Amino acid sequence: MTPQVKLSALVTRRMPSAVLAPLYSTCDVDLHDHSHPLSHAELCARLVGKHGLICMFNDLVDEVALSAGDKLKAIATVAVGVDNIDVSAAAARGIVVTNTPDLLTGATAELTWALLLAVMRRIGEGDRLVRNGSWRGWAFDLMLGTELRGKQLGIVGSGRIGQAVAAIAPVFGMRAVYAARSERNVRNTALAAPILSLDELLLTSDVVSLHLPLTEDTRHLINRRTLIRMKRSAFLINTSRGGVVDDAALAWALDQRLIAGAGLDVFEDEPEVHSELITRENVCLTPHLGSATRETRTAMAELAVRNVMEVLAGRSAVTPVVSKR
Ligand code: DGY
Repeated sequence: MTPQVKLSALVTRRMPSAVLAPLYSTCDVDLHDHSHPLSHAELCARLVGKHGLICMFNDLVDEVALSAGDKLKAIATVAVGVDNIDVSAAAARGIVVTNTPDLLTGATAELTWALLLAVMRRIGEGDRLVRNGSWRGWAFDLMLGTELRGKQLGIVGSGRIGQAVAAIAPVFGMRAVYAARSERNVRNTALAAPILSLDELLLTSDVVSLHLPLTEDTRHLINRRTLIRMKRSAFLINTSRGGVVDDAALAWALDQRLIAGAGLDVFEDEPEVHSELITRENVCLTPHLGSATRETRTAMAELAVRNVMEVLAGRSAVTPVVSKR
């Protein structure tokens, strides 16, 4: 009789013990009980002999990590984006990769609107003015912003989050339009919003909001050439992935007053932020908080645990990621 192998899993970040409890009951759990990530070398070292991995969007799971984790059967990222994982290399090794779609749609849509409102109504600037004691009282022309009502919201990416953002537009009297590669990309929804080419959307929208995964096709989609297309009065919002925007080009466009402002939750080189974006009053910055609500993060972690447990038990994952290659 061959002895039963005790399953083991690496969890790369601190998470509520109640969420991890089911995993502890079936596996040896190696928990990196901190809120900061492991270095890549530490990640690889701790992957040796592990069958499951629960990781975050900023843990790089590349060929090197996959080779280190030569016993891996399941990789569950606590995120919807999988740009940090070499999904096709994992598939080639028979490793199931899972993510947490749907659960963070509402929270990310909320944060998108928070940034949109903050930058158009100058909330960050106003907060700083009051706090630093420079406010001299009400004035007729103090910090005049841009009204949302009657404006066009251009949504680049027509997936779940883009659609959830679009669904809120009528509440503020905004008209949503999408840029999508094909009409088929827009899932069946009660929301009827026109689909434009990216160029048309950039030329005509008052706000451009990005809701795309980071892939070879979308890296630096927003660059000098595309920023020039935007209206001088328009705002750019990004709650997707930093790499979709060329941050240096955005700093340049703001400097040249080619656009009116930006609301950014994600950055090319997190946690570094381009120095010229930090100093601009017309840019509102948040530290990658799209899915950061207690409810959403708990649900995401629970789903990741469930995914790993299902795969390690020889069953199908709840939310597998399909390799595109
Ligand atoms: C995601 O799910 O991709 C987020 O960016 C991480 O919270």
